[in-house]
Amino acid sequence: MINAAVAPILLDNDVELLILGGPTHAFSMSTASTRNSAKQQGAEHIPERGIREWIEGQQSPRRALAVATFDTRAVSPQLLGSAAKKAMKRLVALGCRPVAKPETFGLHGYSGPLADGELERAQRWGADLRKLIASN
Ligand SMILES: Cc1cc2nc3c(=O)[nH]c(=O)nc-3n(C[C@H](O)[C@H](O)[C@H](O)COP(=O)(O)O)c2cc1C
Repeated sequence: MINAAVAPILLDNDVELLILGGPTHAFSMSTASTRNSAKQQGAEHIPERGIREWIEGQQSPRRALAVATFDTRAVSPQLLGSAAKKAMKRLVALGCRPVAKPETFGLHGYSGPLADGELERAQRWGADLRKLIASN
């Protein structure tokens, strides 16, 4: 796993699957402004750049790179929007190939913990993706 703030913009040719994830902020991927708001609300470890900026730095890959996206969002209070869906839309526009539908994992409150059962669901999601890639 690599933090988007330090992830290389150029992906190695041997990357088989790109999994991109981040928090849903203002119905979409975080921006400098929403990350700033999160910081003001007490969030720690807020990166300088998020997945939005990483995607913006990408050029169309030379091959149809397999991608999956996920996000986190609050379930209590329940809010709307999905960073994962927005990210996938942009990746597909670049020519990437989705191998799973965008996934969301719920948190209690704004800073967690993960809602009941979500950690296990995330682990299953990751394991299923691994199997999918191994079988191709
Ligand atoms: C500025 C801000 C805007 C947010 N907007 C949304 C939103 O539109 N929809 C949503 O479901 N959750 C929203 N949330 C809740 C975040 O999705 C949740 O706090 C986040 O997933 C926690 O991950 P993090 O600790 O990596 O930031 C927002 C949180 C912040 C701080």
